[in-house]
Amino acid sequence: MLKSRVVVSGDYRGALCYIAAMGILNGKNIVLGLSGGIACYKAAELCRALVKAGANVQVVMTEAASAFITPVTLQALSGQAVYMSQWDARQDNNMAHINLTRSADAILVAPASADFMAKLLHGRADDLLSLACLARPIERVPLLLAPAMNREMWAHPATQRNVAQLRADGCTVLGVGQGDQACGEVGDGRMLEADELLHTLEAFFAPKVLLGRRVLVNAGPTYEAIDPVRGITNRSSGKMGFAIARAAADAGAMVTLVAGPVALPTPHGVQRIDVVSAEQMHAAVMAQAALADVFVAAAAVADWRVDQAAGQKIKKEVGAAPPALRFLENPDILAEVAASERARSGHLFCVGFAAESENLLAHAQAKRARKNVPLLVGNIGPDTFGQDDNALLLVDEHGHRELARASKADLARELIHDLAHRLASKTP
Ligand code: CTP
Repeated sequence: MLKSRVVVSGDYRGALCYIAAMGILNGKNIVLGLSGGIACYKAAELCRALVKAGANVQVVMTEAASAFITPVTLQALSGQAVYMSQWDARQDNNMAHINLTRSADAILVAPASADFMAKLLHGRADDLLSLACLARPIERVPLLLAPAMNREMWAHPATQRNVAQLRADGCTVLGVGQGDQACGEVGDGRMLEADELLHTLEAFFAPKVLLGRRVLVNAGPTYEAIDPVRGITNRSSGKMGFAIARAAADAGAMVTLVAGPVALPTPHGVQRIDVVSAEQMHAAVMAQAALADVFVAAAAVADWRVDQAAGQKIKKEVGAAPPALRFLENPDILAEVAASERARSGHLFCVGFAAESENLLAHAQAKRARKNVPLLVGNIGPDTFGQDDNALLLVDEHGHRELARASKADLARELIHDLAHRLASKTP
């Protein structure tokens, strides 16, 4: 759980009155249903990940699922006895389908086989899992299905018809992965991976505090060419910016991510524009900023580029002096966006970042004033480059607030909640 700490007195908006919902799955009661399919092996990993995220996981398996994986495995991973039968006498009233669903925050069936979905569609309830799905309080307990099947089964009109009807009935039918299938064929129908399902569930539960907002994020380093094989870049991994893009999308925003050269996967639902140099990043951001409500400048943009990069590789000649590089200043993307009419008129909220190596507060305050942005987020670069965690210092006109060291995902969620609060208090 992330702890945020107010470190100065002063009128820091939102520091005390707004505490973000961190660790979204922490304490959630999840019924994890398994129907029959090879993808049951992924459900074991998913169960583990859910427990690690703090969820209380109650596994319910169909008999077919137990042909692929044993309840022993799921019991060990979830730390709770697995339920399989509607006749299970362990519940005093013998009504497992009622008892297991009344305290549930969601039911996730992963894998959801073609047969299981067909059964749900008709409201059939001849095993505990389908019975529990039917018996759940439909307004209060969402049902998510992670389909898993052969590509022909997935593409079959009957399955697609069932998917459409299940969605119309209020189920959240998740997408499927594409690629090699256990049967040797290749195509659509694989169950999403455990980490994708975990992220999907986190996004599902994330409060939609930025619903309808358009958020532009830039992230990662830039690369300034010296010649076709050499260049100058920096140690930014892009992880913080990508986490912010993901948290914004999870919060319901329409997110565009302008990414420097990094190999990170694109967060689900985020529109990504890949660039290499600062000039390319500048062009992409300026085009998108005209539409955005928020701009988060998390990228480590190179301040200078090489004047007249060589068209061919510069060769090392024996005895010759090293090449003398001349530099030109790159555009300051953040300062330019912050000076735009859209930002000055209050329609675009700009957030700057500062990666420093010392005197964080002083540098961050000076940078906020210099870039003329309402919020600047400072961090100590060498302490976080490439890592999965960070500590942030939020500086605005009223004061500053520390977000203690935590995962970049948690910090990003906290920052998004902070931003949502600022935007909400600006809206008439
Ligand atoms: N920034 C930018 N364009 C640049 C340089 C920086 O948009 N050409 C943005 C960064 O994305 C970040 C903020 O400005 O949000 C601060 O970046 P930083 O490199 O720390 O600041 P500089 O102004 O370059 O100051 P210095 O390197 O001297 O610390």
